[in-house]
Amino acid sequence: MKIAIGCDHAGVELKKEIISLLNNLQIESIDFGTDRSESVDYPDFGEKVSLAVSKGEIEKGILICGTGIGMSIVANKFPGIRASLCNELFTAKMSRLHNDANILVLGGRVVGSDLAKEIVRTWVSTPFEGERHCRRLDKITRIEENLKR
Ligand code: RB5
Repeated sequence: MKIAIGCDHAGVELKKEIISLLNNLQIESIDFGTDRSESVDYPDFGEKVSLAVSKGEIEKGILICGTGIGMSIVANKFPGIRASLCNELFTAKMSRLHNDANILVLGGRVVGSDLAKEIVRTWVSTPFEGERHCRRLDKITRIEENLKR
């Protein structure tokens, strides 16, 4: 599995730790920045990761901003993106089992790094359950298609 990862200035430190965790898990990560602590605009980095996942170039993504809210709003504008803001383990697990979330969003100012890494471990290792949830995801796809017309 390949994971696109990006953040704003509020997520730089956590992003480094997550990249190193992914390395240890032997999961390749593609870093879309930012790498600096100077203030940047989260939509610029959310867009890069979301576009790569939306186009199918990279299977999954991880985005980090201060609360995770801004990055979630950005990511869920992109077709086919199911971004889930998970600042605890239960939603991280359910977002994969029931929603087949393809972008995990974290609040760098909300979760500590140990919990964030546990969330990532859970998220990357939990499969989609399929079955009745496919019907629901198909309905989301239909909504996107109808809105395009
Ligand atoms: C940046 O200060 C902050 O607004 C951003 O990281 C994020 O929390 C937005 O939702």
